[in-house]
Amino acid sequence: MNQMLRYIESELYMESAALNRIAEQVGTPFYCYSKANIEQQIASCKAAFTRLDATIHYAAKANSNLSILRMMAKAGLGADVVSVGELERVIIAGIPAEKVIFSGVGKRKDEMVAALNAGIGQFNLESIPELDALILLCESLNKTAGVSVRINPDVDGSTHRHITTGVKGSKFGISMEQLDQALSRIGESAHLQLRGLAVHIGSQIVTAAPYRKVCERLRDWIVNLRRAGHAITHLDLGGGFGIDYGDGNYLDFESVATVMHETLQGLDNLQIAIEPGRSIVGNAGVLVSEVIFRKEDDPLPFLILDAGMNDLMRPALYQASHPIQPLLERKVEMEVVNVVGPICESTDFFSKAITLPKIAQGERVALLQAGAYGAVMASIYNSRDIIPEVMVDGDRFETIRRRITNHNLLEFE
Ligand code: LLP
Repeated sequence: MNQMLRYIESELYMESAALNRIAEQVGTPFYCYSKANIEQQIASCKAAFTRLDATIHYAAKANSNLSILRMMAKAGLGADVVSVGELERVIIAGIPAEKVIFSGVGKRKDEMVAALNAGIGQFNLESIPELDALILLCESLNKTAGVSVRINPDVDGSTHRHITTGVKGSKFGISMEQLDQALSRIGESAHLQLRGLAVHIGSQIVTAAPYRKVCERLRDWIVNLRRAGHAITHLDLGGGFGIDYGDGNYLDFESVATVMHETLQGLDNLQIAIEPGRSIVGNAGVLVSEVIFRKEDDPLPFLILDAGMNDLMRPALYQASHPIQPLLERKVEMEVVNVVGPICESTDFFSKAITLPKIAQGERVALLQAGAYGAVMASIYNSRDIIPEVMVDGDRFETIRRRITNHNLLEFE
């Protein structure tokens, strides 16, 4: 939960700034983040993982706004990137290239070249053809690349089927059957420097059990691989730590760090890395929107918001629910409503049959826990704007990305 969000004299505040005041200046819909909340999450992540002496590589895909990436740089974090665009952003933000890990199943050649030229610390290789392509590029550029093999550990993260990544048959990672082949090719190449293994079993995982299972398997594999002569010095455990979207389920840094620490004990000379995204920025953000219309209907009334699925895709894609709060707290009766967007699609809903205090047309609401995979997944569907992002710091706020309007986009056509 975001403790930076509370009612003061019936007005919803983020830190010491009233969201209604920001809405009047910026115009709805917009994303709004609490700087203090992000700082708090970074601090508790660092504190929990010191026992593992882990390096933290913020998964830029969760929210790659430059101002947010600059906070990660300032806190000394590294980054996990999945495209040349993210690589450019993290470098501009001041994250040193050697702290960057490049993940992804489909890295293009130009992206690998950019990463080699930037001097990133580690490529997480996800297939044999990718490995071969990287060797050729390194040869032609006369560069050496630090690499880890992302393996598919066949552990189910027990999360939504669209965001589970570590089970057999998923497109991610190299299967255990191909690991030997991958490691010998790396060993034979003068241009690849083996660091170790990497896994990422999924996202929004709310129990530590899958991490225990994957760490137990990794421990045995690493022991065996070392016996076979492979110098495994690094282990990247990915991200995926779930946040509370209102049902009380989440995975705190302490629990997952404890489990990793317990299960990996006894493995010496192993540098652990993690790649958290959502757990760092998810709670910090809200999506502020205005109720365009209240449509009375049978069986349930609709609140039609000015934010749509193009602004926040998660409900449409993963049936995700984001808690909703009115910006003005009033003593009114509760009611059951459907909360939807204005887009011409029935997937454009935020909450079906949700109980809320009765909200009038023209009022504003906040959709909570929208700091991760919100703004970054926005689209221009229905020729809508890319909405602004705002950062609150105490009683001050700053637009950290201006609105990108349809007029801006028309210039490209
Ligand atoms: N590392 C790798 C290799 C990943 O693929 C991901 C996320 C992360 C780290 C960070 O995971 P996190 O700590 O944020 O869970 N759009 C979806 C989530 C997709 C996650 C993809 N990979 C959503 O809105 O739920």
